[in-house]
Amino acid sequence: MSETLKREAAAMALTEVREGMRLGLGTGSTARHFVDLLGEKVAQGLQVICVPTSEATARQALELNIPLSDLDTLDRLDLTVDGADEIDPDFNLIKGGGGALLREKIVAAASDAMIVIADASKLVETLGRFPLPIEVNRFGLRATRHSVEQVIAAHGAEGGLRLRGEDQGSPFVTDGGHLILDAFFGRISQPEALSRDLLDIPGVVQHGLFLNMCSKAYVATPDGVKTLVKGN
Ligand code: A5P
Repeated sequence: MSETLKREAAAMALTEVREGMRLGLGTGSTARHFVDLLGEKVAQGLQVICVPTSEATARQALELNIPLSDLDTLDRLDLTVDGADEIDPDFNLIKGGGGALLREKIVAAASDAMIVIADASKLVETLGRFPLPIEVNRFGLRATRHSVEQVIAAHGAEGGLRLRGEDQGSPFVTDGGHLILDAFFGRISQPEALSRDLLDIPGVVQHGLFLNMCSKAYVATPDGVKTLVKGN
């Protein structure tokens, strides 16, 4: 999907932004367009205060002179705009393809609303085609990996588990200093139960299932941007 279409979805999300809002800024190639467009509005005088979901987004926002804060200073945000790797018909998501899932989830959970911007390739009937990112503590990696393997096998994962970056010689490290195990499911039939079972493993910091967090999506298609609202 072209960058132009992603930017169109980002532009639609920008129409939701009001003067004085406290915003969560997502991570990834689609969220990057939103931050770019927000920067233009800020340059024209729009006043907002934003919490970035990654160091990469923070750098981009700083370059654009977007005022930044954090969740130590602000306890709630009005709106978070972020991308997604998969969106199912119930607006449940897989996120974390870019490795920012932990901060993305903390920021989304602190927000009154979460809007997803994505292209149509992200719409799925059932989550799980995209590998589920599972962020784990470095301590006890082998034991944690073993426990995660057992949980995902019990939930029908077809393709096993991979430590992200292992095949490139050094593992991918998140902004929080953790590692990511990508779980290849094929389909996730019980996302709530899977979420609970993964979070029960002490070494699991967080996972990329965003359940009941998003209620609206702007989805870019070759025929234009579609507005999807949960429950409609
Ligand atoms: C970052 O960790 C992710 O959750 C992204 O939001 C997600 O991977 C979507 O990224 P793109 O907009 O680049 O597809």
